Amino acid sequence: MSRLVYVLNGPNLNLLGKRQPHIYGHETMADVERDVRALAVELGLEIKFLQSNREYEIIDWVHEARETAGGIVINPAAFTHTSVAILDALNTFDAPVIEVHISNVHKREEFRHHSFVSKRADGVIAGFGTQGYLLALRRVAKLIDDKTE
Ligand code: DQA
Repeated sequence: MSRLVYVLNGPNLNLLGKRQPHIYGHETMADVERDVRALAVELGLEIKFLQSNREYEIIDWVHEARETAGGIVINPAAFTHTSVAILDALNTFDAPVIEVHISNVHKREEFRHHSFVSKRADGVIAGFGTQGYLLALRRVAKLIDDKTE
């Protein structure tokens, strides 16, 4: 089982740290990437860390992951609530998928309560701030280790 993990981030997350910090905090995507990479070293994982504001790019990365990756951590951002296409792409991926939301989407507007991606995700983390990415990575590592044993 491949130890490469794709960490995929959807629209507006490039503005993390500047965007509604009372909801998403002050850490930037670069901070998250740094922390994810540091943990990955500890867990013996290789990371592809990507962000896009374009739905098709996220779909293309999932297709790429199909060929190479042992897991996906994904914060689809607003596409969570709208994208059947990302769900369909994830349904072609045969290894662990963990969905992450920085904020607790269930405490927020009604339209954020539904997730298409959750129909495929093996686990969902919401409301743990950017620490959620690290928890998700630990879970993917565990699932990969369990399959490898
Ligand atoms: C988010 C929650 C989504 O509802 C929102 O559209 C985002 C970020 C989160 O990380 O809390 O852009 O996925």
